[in-house]
Amino acid sequence: MKNNINGFSKLSKEKKIDWIAETYFAQPEKAVQLIKSYWNADAKLQQLHDDFIENTITNFYLPLGIAPNFLINGKYYTVPMTIEESSVVAAAAKSAKYWSERGGFKTTVLNSEKIGQVHFTYNGDATKLKAFFTKIKNKFYEDTNHTTANMQKRGGGIVDIVLKDKTALLDNYFQLHATFQTKDSMGANFINSCLEQFAKTLKREALAHAEFNAEEKNIDIIMSILSNYVTNCIVRVEVSCPVEQLSEKNIPNPKDFAEKMVKAIRIAEVEPYRAVTHNKGIMNGIDAVVLATGNDFRAVEAGIHAYASKDGQYTSLSHAKIENDTFSYWMEIPLALGTVGGLTSLHPMVKLALEMLENPSSTELMQIVAATGLAQNFAALRSLTTTGIQEGHMKMHLGNIINQFNATPNERTLIENHFEKNPVSHAAVVAFIENLRK
Ligand code: HMG
Repeated sequence: MKNNINGFSKLSKEKKIDWIAETYFAQPEKAVQLIKSYWNADAKLQQLHDDFIENTITNFYLPLGIAPNFLINGKYYTVPMTIEESSVVAAAAKSAKYWSERGGFKTTVLNSEKIGQVHFTYNGDATKLKAFFTKIKNKFYEDTNHTTANMQKRGGGIVDIVLKDKTALLDNYFQLHATFQTKDSMGANFINSCLEQFAKTLKREALAHAEFNAEEKNIDIIMSILSNYVTNCIVRVEVSCPVEQLSEKNIPNPKDFAEKMVKAIRIAEVEPYRAVTHNKGIMNGIDAVVLATGNDFRAVEAGIHAYASKDGQYTSLSHAKIENDTFSYWMEIPLALGTVGGLTSLHPMVKLALEMLENPSSTELMQIVAATGLAQNFAALRSLTTTGIQEGHMKMHLGNIINQFNATPNERTLIENHFEKNPVSHAAVVAFIENLRK
């Protein structure tokens, strides 16, 4: 059986499944059955999901968990989180509750500008290109009027367009670097439509520009695309409290704890190997809310990690200090999110998640996402600097280990009772189950 195929996309869904089942599975009927068991019984709902992407054969479930008690700028939020990793939701919920008793999260959106670029080459006199750009700049706005009209009514639109000379980096390389306000939408389609029009305008006007010679007229558009590196779309989140108020069950000595937290963060600031894992903990929270609210987590990930390296070395996104016996802990991150457009009006679970958040604006969502990221980081660091990560993580992971062994309800109860008082490790659970089954 050969493993390559022409025209797969043209096959019906049933035929695609049959081909996969026959090509890859020793028991094709079983594979088909499993694939179909994940179809939704509501055919209309299934069709909606089929249409989100291409060559859909079934659904791939991720759990939607809830972290309540997020007090952000004096308002309580119940945060929806979509994630496959055990202990993340519990950790977020624990930190949310903890900080709600200590003043809550304070967040500010510092700015919310998006970026897009037209990359092109121009072989000629740069001063002539600059003069040409100044002369035709208005045409970019005029030619995109039909695209920007509605966005302008909502208070958004094109903020500015500048010409950038990048020839020091690459021969003949220039850019139109444009900034946008896209209000509650993430704005990808809007930005890309504007940019593609800018490119057409640039090409057309260059050809008609009398001062250019033949070579200069021949501007070559390489590509027009938004940037996911949104350095001017930044949210700040902070928590703080007097050091002595940090105490709780695993923090008998709050001063030691605060100092250890600050040191742990300093290590992530100076040591990239630690910074990546430290920031991964932050992304546990960020990605989960970004996914639940139908936003593009790849764009968010790429932008945030680039931001973590903005000063030349990959470093911690979060920071902490102790000043005047007050522990302060904060983070500033770039986040381009939407609460309208894209999946937000299509995916029923996304709509539910947004309604649970009381239909936030995109800037309000930035603040919720950032607070969840910081909460997650706090939970991980608290565990790392006190009990160690495994205690809480394995406590939450116990259910997964039990499921691996197809435990009966009676076995499950016995296992859970035993491990309420004993440390959970994979080996210890296996040994306990084997002993039970002897
Ligand atoms: P605990 O102290 O055993 O929890 O913590 P508890 O039983 O005392 O309950 C306190 C609160 O925690 C609860 O309040 C919940 O908010 C939450 P309540 O609801 O009772 O009013 N909570 C739960 N929520 C939902 N379901 C549960 C549950 N249990 C507690 N079953 C906990 C247990 C896991 C929360 C704690 O040990 C913890 O925060 N651990 C950190 C876990 C973590 O960070 N996981 C991420 C995965 S590890 C990783 O990927 C990142 C890392 O590498 C990053 C880095 O290195 O920086 C670590």
